[in-house]
Amino acid sequence: YVVDKGNHRHFMEKEIYEQPEVISHALSHYVDLADHTVRPADVAIDFKALRGLAISACGTAYLAGLVGKYWFERYARLPVEIDVASEFRYREMPLSVDQAALFISQSGETADTLASLRYCKDAGLKIGAIVNVKESTIAREADAVFPILAGPEIGVASTKAFTCQLAVMASLAVAAGKARGLISAEDEKDLVRHLAEMPRIMSKVLNLIQPQMESLSRELSRFKDVLYLGRGTSYPLALEGALKLKEISYIHAEGYAAGELKHGPIALIDENMPVIVIAPHDRFFDKTVSNMQEVAARGGKIIFITDEKGAASSKLETMATIVLPNVAEIIAPMVFSLPIQLLAYHTAVFMGTDVDQPRNLAKSVTVE
Ligand code: G6P
Repeated sequence: YVVDKGNHRHFMEKEIYEQPEVISHALSHYVDLADHTVRPADVAIDFKALRGLAISACGTAYLAGLVGKYWFERYARLPVEIDVASEFRYREMPLSVDQAALFISQSGETADTLASLRYCKDAGLKIGAIVNVKESTIAREADAVFPILAGPEIGVASTKAFTCQLAVMASLAVAAGKARGLISAEDEKDLVRHLAEMPRIMSKVLNLIQPQMESLSRELSRFKDVLYLGRGTSYPLALEGALKLKEISYIHAEGYAAGELKHGPIALIDENMPVIVIAPHDRFFDKTVSNMQEVAARGGKIIFITDEKGAASSKLETMATIVLPNVAEIIAPMVFSLPIQLLAYHTAVFMGTDVDQPRNLAKSVTVE
């Protein structure tokens, strides 16, 4: 694996464009792309016997875990307890041996995540590690290792590791659901077929939105504050969008659950704070649109990231609408990550920051 920038200006850009390829590689490890079946999840974690899952991680990996929570609860009916590793470790939450614990870490070396892992291990839980670096400490101390196979990630702001973590967790949630007798053979085929189509859709989306992302980023770079909103699995994406933007462009950004808008951030809405709404046309769409209306009614500027169905059914005036193809619910978080990443990337490039090495941040944090 040659680690250079290829034709790209930054590692981050290269890693964004690499996603269709690495995700396809990651998926082929967890699902049969021809047969459209999941491979049984690692035998070290018996999903069938579990009563619940505990998930812990830091930064972007934590936000991937938040998406995973929705999937494990929905597809495998496994209650998920999730927290950032620096809190998880000290909460003294009751744990029991019929739970398994999953730790997500690109580097596999993050000190807080490792401390949480050891804490769960001492409590007698089976440990799963979703890591990029297979030789890492977190991988070595786990009972089951789920590699994300993203290849080396150099940009400090995580992109391809995030979507590969998601792809692995989506596959594991389906495998867990199947093991628990909750997913029929037919549903399994459908879900895996959607996953199998994802790399091709991601390539298409990357080409489709590139010019618009560049011009929109130019506009975004004039603002000092940005709010991201989403519901369901788009809520963790809103958090990730805000994290990505602040990390590399230094623009203050916050992510909120769309429904929480009226409980606080609505007080900040004016023409100086664009609101980026992430809303595929899913079960939550109408609710999110009504939150968008609350923003529009207060003179807020909206950047609407949606799909064809969503764009056709909303009449609201926006600063920009980014229209992605209609995709199945299970792949939406990965596909909708692309505009979020590109928006942060181009805004940072436009502002002239050190995109791959943002100030004060480290790729891997080995102190607590
Ligand atoms: C640092 C990096 C982030 C990363 C986080 C967790 O803050 O800058 O990009 O998400 O650590 O790292 P890990 O290696 O455990 O995924």
